[in-house]
Amino acid sequence: MSGTILILNGPNLNLLGAREPEIYGSDTIADIEAVCVAHAETLGLKVDFRQSNFEGELVTWVQEAKKAQDALIVNAGAYSHTSIALLDALLAIGKPVVEVHLSNLFKRDEFRRRSYVTAASAGLISGFGAFGYRMALDAVADILSNNRT
Ligand code: DQA
Repeated sequence: MSGTILILNGPNLNLLGAREPEIYGSDTIADIEAVCVAHAETLGLKVDFRQSNFEGELVTWVQEAKKAQDALIVNAGAYSHTSIALLDALLAIGKPVVEVHLSNLFKRDEFRRRSYVTAASAGLISGFGAFGYRMALDAVADILSNNRT
């Protein structure tokens, strides 16, 4: 298989490792990137791994993915629960999307139970910490190899 996967990380995920480690774990964003790059390689995929604290930048990267990448893995952080703009961008490009969250959204605050990203995603992985990114890559590989969205 071949293909490039855009892995998008939203606000405050640059603080991983130091940020509420009892919820988000001790891996830094750089640790997660390294795991993703290595795991993607075993699947024959390449990874473009990014993080931004700015909603508009995330929207622009999604738009650019229409031409530049084959599928997306999205952890939009708190924008998951607020951003119709991100949802619209994901719907507009028509690429496979797998949503990932480190924490289990359904065990936490009520407002985290709704994610706009889910409506544009093939599926949602939530609660497995950094391992969820590997699961998301496996899901993307399966989707691409079966030509699904
Ligand atoms: C998160 C969950 C969100 O509710 C939160 O705002 C985050 C991280 C997660 O990965 O568990 O920033 O997306």
